[in-house]
Amino acid sequence: MVLQAIQYEPASVKSPPALRILDQLQLPHRTEYVTVGNCEEAHAAIKQMKVRGAPAIAIVAALALAVEVGKEIAAAKSLGRPEDAKENIGYRLDYLKTSRPTAVNLSDAISKLKIVTKKATLEPEASADSVARAYIVAAERMLVDDVSDNKAIGEHGARWIEDNTVAGKKRKADGSQQLQVLTHCNTGSLATAGYGTALGVIRSLRSANMLTRAYCSETRPYNQGSRLTAYELVHDEIPATLITDSMACALMSKEGDRLAAVVVGADRVAANGDTANKIGTHSLAVLARHHGVKFLVAAPRTTIDRDTASGRDIIIEERAPEEVTRVKGPKVTTDGRLVLDEGSEVVSTAAIGIDVWNPAFDVTPAELIDGVITEVGVVEKLAGKFDFGSVFQD
Ligand code: MRU
Repeated sequence: MVLQAIQYEPASVKSPPALRILDQLQLPHRTEYVTVGNCEEAHAAIKQMKVRGAPAIAIVAALALAVEVGKEIAAAKSLGRPEDAKENIGYRLDYLKTSRPTAVNLSDAISKLKIVTKKATLEPEASADSVARAYIVAAERMLVDDVSDNKAIGEHGARWIEDNTVAGKKRKADGSQQLQVLTHCNTGSLATAGYGTALGVIRSLRSANMLTRAYCSETRPYNQGSRLTAYELVHDEIPATLITDSMACALMSKEGDRLAAVVVGADRVAANGDTANKIGTHSLAVLARHHGVKFLVAAPRTTIDRDTASGRDIIIEERAPEEVTRVKGPKVTTDGRLVLDEGSEVVSTAAIGIDVWNPAFDVTPAELIDGVITEVGVVEKLAGKFDFGSVFQD
């Protein structure tokens, strides 16, 4: 069974489009899909992190509006003039953009979708209906393109690791050599339309029979590593080990050259290569540099924000203190069984009254990044600087 965080049914003669997402607040213990029927529901699902991960956020937002627009078409609701349809779609896209601030993929998708609707209004036979339909086609395209982009990212990343790391070169010469990779947060099928970015690289390494073990860090406070990445690795039967975030240094000291690389995703890569990603990414990059382990960012070009000069200009989302002071999960009996039918319990783990700072992301300076793996190839620094111009030439 292929893991699918986003289930989308295009319109048929009988019904308008429909969107369901895997509720990631329930994972790993409950597999529950929830319907996203309009923009308000998408906004709430993104804010509450029922769906998360930069590409998935953008796709769910775009498709939720496709569902809303599709229902209006099916109900033969008057959409007014082509200009009105464009304005109306633009207004709802701007609202969706306010759900979470750090990942650029959503604003990138919105700008592209606005161009589509603008162009549609300029067609000779334009009508409000044709503008709405052009929007739906473009939003649906994003879902399809994301999976193929991720597969390409996976292949480029795996090849780079084989050619540029000590473990990769040794493994190529002698298939019995160990090659391990550490990843952070969740960047897999649950964070994208499918396959994943950094986790896509791990999947590709595994398919090429190069990977002996993946390590995933717990990713406090929201535990995307232990809940979601671990779930995907177990699902795909990839040999994998979970560590807490504070164990990364010990892992690097212990494994030495066998740990080929740290591969992470990104929420926004600035023009100079500074990269915003899940909190804890920067510390992994510092540790990797200290231990001589390659540090790679895997991200589609939609995550590269050439309008943001450096990491200093990236807005970092801060989330509720309770994500740090409480944990949620099913009860475990004294003999180790999960009590799933009673739902989740929330447990307090911090002193009442303590102040909390909970930034969801940090910024890793370009200096610490060895390469940015995109769907069209791996960008490395030239004379110490990233230049992403070459990957935007098509
Ligand atoms: O807060 P989240 O879970 O949305 O954060 C996700 C990350 O930081 C991912 O690494 C990033 O979005 C890339 S997902 C392909």
